[in-house]
Amino acid sequence: MELYDALRRRRTTNGPFLPDPVSPEHQRMLVEVAAMAPSHLNSQPWRFVLVDDREKIEALARESGESMTQVFRDGTFFKRYRPYFRFSKKEMEERRDGIYFDQLPSVLKPFTRQVFSPAAQALMNRLGVPKTLGEDNRKLVAGSPLLLAVLLDKAEYRPGELSGFYSIFGMGAAVENIWLMTTELGMGIQFVSFPMEVPESWRRIQNLLEVPDDLELMAVYRLGYLPEEKRRPSIDWTSTQRKRLPQYVFRNSCATPEPEPEGTDAQREENGR
Ligand SMILES: Cc1cc2nc3c(=O)[nH]c(=O)nc-3n(C[C@H](O)[C@H](O)[C@H](O)COP(=O)(O)O)c2cc1C
Repeated sequence: MELYDALRRRRTTNGPFLPDPVSPEHQRMLVEVAAMAPSHLNSQPWRFVLVDDREKIEALARESGESMTQVFRDGTFFKRYRPYFRFSKKEMEERRDGIYFDQLPSVLKPFTRQVFSPAAQALMNRLGVPKTLGEDNRKLVAGSPLLLAVLLDKAEYRPGELSGFYSIFGMGAAVENIWLMTTELGMGIQFVSFPMEVPESWRRIQNLLEVPDDLELMAVYRLGYLPEEKRRPSIDWTSTQRKRLPQYVFRNSCATPEPEPEGTDAQREENGR
């Protein structure tokens, strides 16, 4: 696969993976391409834990599901992420960022725009929506053949200092390499991020992974091979929309947005631009 193709096809996976284990060769390739990323002074501050132990995956899945239920039930999720949700195709088309929230559980469809109101929150809780979402999420994580924890060496990762910024930058590059490699291998990848929203849950995951004092647990991903036919999950977080050039690129100074390239969206897509 050509690099440009892999870049264009890279996606976040929201649905289930095949139950097949990820081959040892593919697991090795994923962590090897991660280490090909650039890092400040070649410090390589990243560390990875490959988790294929069933009991550990299931314990982590329970943390994920329960933390998702918690942040949906107490409203933290909607408070924290409100600015990212788009409720109409028109809004999405104008802003070209965020996530199109068209996949609410059907019973809440009439309330789409009020989803952030206390009344809708109370209704959702009464209908047990947080529990349903959490259980869906637990199953997705538990059904993943491989989890990958990403850690940083605290000798380099010093928040507030340049070295801390550099470490995060390098980790991002390493994770992007993994993300792109999944595209090449017919695999998918998704953040398991809800436990990060609940500090006690994150601490329990650190214990589960036996993270030593000199490392910081930064992120957990679930990975696996993709089925041929992808069903959409109850809430679909992925978004193929991207800002137009003048919305994020400038020429010579921030005062001059780069003009839109010529041609329609469809033509540009065809030309690979
Ligand atoms: C820092 C960061 C955090 C993210 N957190 C989550 C997450 O918690 N759950 C999830 O499913 N996707 C997560 N994503 C993936 C984004 O939602 C996704 O990249 C974006 O919607 C664009 O979709 P795409 O990756 O399919 O192009 C995250 C991505 C980044 C870079």
